[in-house]
Amino acid sequence: MKKTERRLAVYAGTFDPITNGHIDIIRRALIVFDSVCVAVADKPSKKVTFDTKTRLQLVTDAVEAEGISDRVSVDSFDGLLVDYVSSKKAVAIVRGLRAVTDYEYEAQMALMNRRLSAHIETVFFVASENHSFISSSIVKNVAENGGQIEGLVPANVYGSLKSLNKYG
Ligand code: COA
Repeated sequence: MKKTERRLAVYAGTFDPITNGHIDIIRRALIVFDSVCVAVADKPSKKVTFDTKTRLQLVTDAVEAEGISDRVSVDSFDGLLVDYVSSKKAVAIVRGLRAVTDYEYEAQMALMNRRLSAHIETVFFVASENHSFISSSIVKNVAENGGQIEGLVPANVYGSLKSLNKYG
């Protein structure tokens, strides 16, 4: 690698919506990489609450509010993740590990991605213990049922989730 070469990592996921757990992983990735591209899956295999345009906007606004937009880009992708990573000339895929239960699924994906593209490494960051219980689904479920979600998601996401409340 040339000394001036910048190291870009791709943090891919559904981000339906982005949570403070995801922000924590982006911040950890910025310690190691020069820049991070948050890649929002356009057609994920699971059913989504927010369409791609909304998920992208929520990530973009959250990254801006965090003051990290100079080193973080936001994009959507379709098709194989390794193809997207290659097209961006990125060196790694970033994923977060919250608990040991994440490991099996993450290792399976990392090994499949390595088989598909041997030169792309998957790098795992261990989530902060404050965020290890957060997932997008659990936060949406609490919001739908009128529970408190402050502190679990970025402020801009908080507003969108409050509108899911079935009781108010
Ligand atoms: N903080 C908070 N939540 C976290 C988290 C963290 N640090 N890490 C993971 N999560 C949660 C997510 O919120 C999500 O929750 P949900 O299921 O309640 O929505 C869940 O963990 C799964 O994580 P996510 O990052 O959304 O991953 P995913 O499994 O939905 O996305 C893709 C996986 C999109 C990266 C993968 O399917 C992919 O690469 N698809 C493209 C096609 C492809 O290349 N397929 C072959 C892959 S081997």
